[in-house]
Amino acid sequence: MKINITETVLRDANQSLIATRMKFDEFKDILDELDKAGYFSLEVWGGATFDSCIRYLNEDPWERLRKIKAQVKNTKLQMLLRGQNILGYKHYPDDVVRNFVKYSVHNGIDIIRIFDALNDLRNIEVAVDETLKQGAHAQGAISYTQSPIHNLENYARLGKQLEEMGVNSICIKDMSGIMGPKDAFDLVKVLKETVKVPVVLHTHGTTGLGPITCTKAVEAGVDGIDTAISSFSGGTSQPSTETLHYALKELGYDTGLNEKVLKKINDHFKPLKDKYLASGQLNPYVLGTETDALTYQIPGGMLSNLVSQLKDQNALDKLNDVLTEVPKVRKDLGYPPLVTPMSQMVGTQATVNVLSGERYKMILKEVKAYIKGEYGKAPGEIDERLVEKVLGDEKPITVRYADLLEPVFDKTKIEVKDFAKTDEDVLSYLLFPAIAEPFLKKKAASKNEPLETVVKYSIEGV
Ligand code: CO
Repeated sequence: MKINITETVLRDANQSLIATRMKFDEFKDILDELDKAGYFSLEVWGGATFDSCIRYLNEDPWERLRKIKAQVKNTKLQMLLRGQNILGYKHYPDDVVRNFVKYSVHNGIDIIRIFDALNDLRNIEVAVDETLKQGAHAQGAISYTQSPIHNLENYARLGKQLEEMGVNSICIKDMSGIMGPKDAFDLVKVLKETVKVPVVLHTHGTTGLGPITCTKAVEAGVDGIDTAISSFSGGTSQPSTETLHYALKELGYDTGLNEKVLKKINDHFKPLKDKYLASGQLNPYVLGTETDALTYQIPGGMLSNLVSQLKDQNALDKLNDVLTEVPKVRKDLGYPPLVTPMSQMVGTQATVNVLSGERYKMILKEVKAYIKGEYGKAPGEIDERLVEKVLGDEKPITVRYADLLEPVFDKTKIEVKDFAKTDEDVLSYLLFPAIAEPFLKKKAASKNEPLETVVKYSIEGV
């Protein structure tokens, strides 16, 4: 049986281990081999790559994508998109979402993995629709979490709804690596029984469960898994490509991967890893196994945030109180998955509740917006007293939040025409105005802009 492998070294591994600081020049020489290895797809864009290119690397993210596409001719390129939030945390109007998806495809993306932190599918339907309109592969993702209200039945229902929406495949997205092998086996089984489209599993090595979880998912019939080349695998990254390939081959599965090419790829990334270790950008801590997430049922990244928050407040002695408060706040908020931005909201609110000595004496602005319905529908019921306290006589937002937003793309295009020379530039500006404006001004002033590539891919698409 064939198992599709998606290589994450250029996106999720890069993001999870070294805060997305890998420069194009550091991987350009290995793109040919990545294209030859036999991967189903390469995850190369979206997530934090876009922001990081502009903010830290002085690279135009669109140009990076075009340059990757120019070298990777046979393997599909994949990106991660946060539905109506695109690559950020606020909701954008539909015209921005549609344009972003359109130009992502025009510049070289073949597969878009689309998710919403709350699994409110209204927040992904426009991105899915546009992806399909552009002729690309829309992968609908289910944000995986564990709570008394999350069970196989409602995950199966989500899968069914995604299929009805027209997605080409479904991803189980375990962003914190808390999914165990049995959870994976049962969930994949039930999804495979419910939907006809392929199902893929995305997990992280954070808690050490990753490789076992992937193997059981394969046994349950999963069609694809995400892995990272070994030198950039493990810890908060994905399980290792070579390891999974070896294990799956031994168990009689066909990954389609060429071991000799994988070796060349890893030989390229090994010295890069050493370089990042030496510079301190790669902290050995993130490569370790962090089982606290299993004990506390909160993601590893969130735990380290809480610790540093409390340290800042000189209140590390309150850590246990905060860890007890986190699940209570999460329950009060209707059990949102603890993924960005909900993990920050729940964690900070719990800290405030403990440090102020009275629960919800102060409610965070973001938590209020969430309770009002600005992020979408909560998975479960929000505590009535909390709703009352935040809303008073005000009515909650029950429509899709983006329905309340006016189109802005055409208007912005005129406003920023002096420095945003292409529609892609306008999108960079709309997503990250504060950093994109100086970046684009500098770019517009420089004569070396390689216009040929811009024109070629904007017209041809894929
Ligand atoms: Co991930």
